[in-house]
Amino acid sequence: MFSEKIQIGLTKQLNRESESSQLYLSMASWVEKKGFEGISEFLYDHSHEERMHMLKLIRYINKRGGSAILDNIFIRKKTYGSLKELFQILFEHEKKISNEINILVELSLQEKDYFTYNFLQWYVEEQMEEETLSKMILDKIELVGEDKVGLYLFDKDIKNFHKQ
Ligand code: FEO
Repeated sequence: MFSEKIQIGLTKQLNRESESSQLYLSMASWVEKKGFEGISEFLYDHSHEERMHMLKLIRYINKRGGSAILDNIFIRKKTYGSLKELFQILFEHEKKISNEINILVELSLQEKDYFTYNFLQWYVEEQMEEETLSKMILDKIELVGEDKVGLYLFDKDIKNFHKQ
């Protein structure tokens, strides 16, 4: 069993992952209705990945003798001024998640909980890739701007964007 502090920290993180999944899902639906099939596929897929991140935490917490509890979450922002704004929000969101993961890693060291420290290494790696990917996408969309042909090609290309 881990400490109360670790239980609270991991529970907050699982709810952030759940929120990430809902955020990507809400964006996917908005983008789909705008006619960007490739971007919406990417966002739907990513929503699924975030759900996997959440599940991994739930299973770990329960396996270690804690209790994984989901909070009610909802997405406040439902429409976006542009694709650039949407991807800016995603990038900021991923940066926030990276910061939270780092805080959790620090906490696991303070608590001398090396099981959790080890468990979190997967998230460190995954999060670094996600932050890099969301920045790369934002850079590309800034480059394309409002150019219709550029957006069309971006929508096709995004299917081939992968985490590094
Ligand atoms: Fe699972 Fe994008 O954080």
